[in-house]
Amino acid sequence: MWAFLDGEFVEEKDRHIKLENRGLTFADGLFEVIRTIESKILFFEDHFSRMQKSAIHFDIDLPYCSEYIKNAAHELIKKNGIEDGELYLELTRGTDLHRDHRYPPKRTPSTFFMLALPLRHIDRENWKKGVKLLTYPDLRHKLCEHKTINLLPNVLAKNYAYSNGGYEALMYREERNYRYVTEGGSSNYFMVKDGVLHTPEIDNILPGITREKVTKIIHGLGYELHERRVGLEEFLTADEVFLVSTVSRVMPVHSIDDVHFDAPGTITLKVQEAYEKIFF
Ligand code: PDD
Repeated sequence: MWAFLDGEFVEEKDRHIKLENRGLTFADGLFEVIRTIESKILFFEDHFSRMQKSAIHFDIDLPYCSEYIKNAAHELIKKNGIEDGELYLELTRGTDLHRDHRYPPKRTPSTFFMLALPLRHIDRENWKKGVKLLTYPDLRHKLCEHKTINLLPNVLAKNYAYSNGGYEALMYREERNYRYVTEGGSSNYFMVKDGVLHTPEIDNILPGITREKVTKIIHGLGYELHERRVGLEEFLTADEVFLVSTVSRVMPVHSIDDVHFDAPGTITLKVQEAYEKIFF
């Protein structure tokens, strides 16, 4: 398999990254996961621009323009023969032989690489019948509006969900005895109550690209949508719940812990059908 590393296409045996890379020692970096279908790259500009904005925010050098990376991505897909898959992009603050938490005020050369990965397996029935969520406390820091490679809490949350028969974790934070939903280990959430949709506002959660596309679809279908803080209790008493992400697309939810929902609900189905029709 070929990778694209710091401007070059390299085979597995030639991928030399120093162990002192700050991505490895400090999780000091960013990533993106982009869907490829029949060699087309879905929402490339949105994903790349999210990485660019975060790179500026964290003062990490991203010395490539969107056009250059998009061309390289097409080449990588071709070289690996993965037409339907996931493109993985990672940017780290580069090598730091001294392992100092502080980084030099002058930007150091960063590390940028891309992988073309096969699609993660998802049972097709999940899109028809829905999936189970497990509630889990959101243990993360306050930088969740950025797609950082600092993912241990997400790993724990998703692993907890999987090992208890679930598909995703429904993460929540708690303030003054009020529990509110943030997002999943790698997805955003929507819920429906009395014909109106609600989704957690962008407040220390990832502004998902799929979430943004789905938001437009919901408005286009003429439904009311509120982006606000949504209580965990509201999710548990919802009429319908669904999750969205690059890999899961629009995925109905049939249960949260031991609470069951009709899945897919009528509105979920309409949103799912519209999303599939427009983009797949
Ligand atoms: N995850 N929230 C989190 C914490 C995520 O990691 C992701 C994406 C999303 C959905 O964002 P988008 O619609 O841009 O994919 C929400 C990717 C798919 C992953 O880690 O595999």
